[in-house]
Amino acid sequence: MTQTYISDIAAQEGQDVELRGWIYNFRSSGKLKFLQLRDGTGVIQCVMSKKNVPEASWEVGEKLTQETSIIVHGTVNKDDRAPSGYELWVSDVELVGESEDYPISPKEHGDAFLLDHRHLWLRSSRQHAIMRVRHNVIKAIRDFFDDRGFINLDAPIFTPNAAEGTSTLFETEYFGDKAYLSQSGQLYMEPGCAALGKVYCFGPTFRAEKSKTRKHLTEFWMLEPEVAFMDLDGCMELGEDLICFIIERILERCQMELKTLERDVSKLEAVKTPFPRIHYQEACDLLVKKGTDFTPGDDFGAPDEEALSEGYDSPVIIHRFPTKIKAFYMKCEADDPETSLSCDFIAPEGFGEIIGGSQREDNAEILERKIREHDLPREAFQWYLDVRKYGSFPHSGFGLGLERTISWICGVRHVRECIPFPRLMHRLKP
Ligand code: 4AD
Ligand code: MG
Repeated sequence: MTQTYISDIAAQEGQDVELRGWIYNFRSSGKLKFLQLRDGTGVIQCVMSKKNVPEASWEVGEKLTQETSIIVHGTVNKDDRAPSGYELWVSDVELVGESEDYPISPKEHGDAFLLDHRHLWLRSSRQHAIMRVRHNVIKAIRDFFDDRGFINLDAPIFTPNAAEGTSTLFETEYFGDKAYLSQSGQLYMEPGCAALGKVYCFGPTFRAEKSKTRKHLTEFWMLEPEVAFMDLDGCMELGEDLICFIIERILERCQMELKTLERDVSKLEAVKTPFPRIHYQEACDLLVKKGTDFTPGDDFGAPDEEALSEGYDSPVIIHRFPTKIKAFYMKCEADDPETSLSCDFIAPEGFGEIIGGSQREDNAEILERKIREHDLPREAFQWYLDVRKYGSFPHSGFGLGLERTISWICGVRHVRECIPFPRLMHRLKP
C-alpha cells in the first residue's frame, strides 16, 4: 500500500489508507487506544480497538511512547469533533522506531532547555505552524517579485568590506587574507540593477551584534530588492505593496497555522495601503510629546518604535532620517545634506523595524567623500564607485528582515522561534 499524507486525508473518506509518522500524544481507556499521529503535514487521531486489530498490533500499541515512529493502516472516518475533521479507525499498526525518554513533554519547559533541544522542539505544533508560515512568506516574496519582472540575483556571503558599518562584522581568514560574512547584499544589487533593471537577493546575512534583544539574531535572512530609476517614493510604495501581498497570502493559506498560534487575525486583516508616512522631524516632535526617553537627532530605540506605531494597524513609514545616523551610501535631499532619503518601516504591536531602505547616492564625488568621512578603505569600494562612473542613474532599494516579519505576522514575540536553527550571541548549537 502506498503512503497517504494526513494533509490529503479528506479525499480518502471511507477508504483504507496507510499513514506513516510519529506518536504526538496518546491515551488508553480499557480496550480502546487513542493515538495522535503526526506526519509533518498534520495530526490525526487514530482510534484502535482491541477487537478490531491483530494481537501483534495491540502489543505494539501497549508499547507506544511519545515520538515512536509507526506505520498504521485503517479506514478514514469523518468526525466533525476532530480538529482535522477526520479520524482513522485502525486495522493494524507496525512499529518502525522506538522512542525512549523523549525530553520534550506537553508540559512547560524553560527557554534555554527548548533552545538546547531545538532539533526536537521543531516537532511541536507551535514550531510547526511558525515554520509553515515562514515557508509561505518566502514563497509569497518570490511570487511577488517574479510577477513584477524582477530577476533573483544572489549576492556573495564572503565579502571584502563592510556594507552597514564596521562594528558588526564577522571576520574570517581567507587564504592568508581577511574576509567578512556579508551584512547585506545591497552593494552587489546596485551594479545588479544597472545590469538587469529590477533585481533582488534573498539569503542569510550576518551581524556580530552584541544585542541580546528579542529582535536580534546574528544570522538572519534578508530580502533586498534594488531598482534602477526608482526614487524614495517608489521605494516606499514597493515596500508597502510587498507587505500587503505577503499578509494577504498568509491570511489566504495559513488560517490553521494562525489559529494554532492564537494570532488575532483581525489585526492582520486591518493592514492596508497606503501606510502612514511620518517625516523624521515630525516623529521627533511626536516622541517628545509622548514623553519617551528620546533625544532628537538619535536613532529610535524599542520604546520609541512602540510609541510611533501606537494607534496604527499598518506598519508606519518613518522617512528622511538625519544623514549622520545612517549608512554612507544614502543619497541626501538636494537642498539639505543633513537629511538622507531614507525610510524605515515599523511594524505594529511592538514588533519593531522590519524594513530599512533608501535612495542611493548616485554622484561619484559625493560618494567618495562619504567613504572618506566614514573611514572606509577607498580601494575596497573602487568597484562600487564604478556604478557611478559608467552611466550613473538614480536608484533605490530596501532590506526586509524575514524573521522580524514572521514574528509580527505570527504574533511570536521572539525572532529565535522564527528561524529553524537560531544563531544568537550566546548560541551556536544545535
Ligand atoms: O536596516 P538594515 O540594516 O538595512 C540594510 O542592511 C540595507 N543595506 C538594506 C538595503 O537597503 N538593501 O537591515 C534591514 C532589515 C531591518 O529592517 C531588520 O528588519 C532586519 O534587516 N535586521 C535584523 N533582523 C534580525 N536580526 C538582526 N540582527 C537584524 N538586523 C537587521
Ligand atoms: Mg535599519
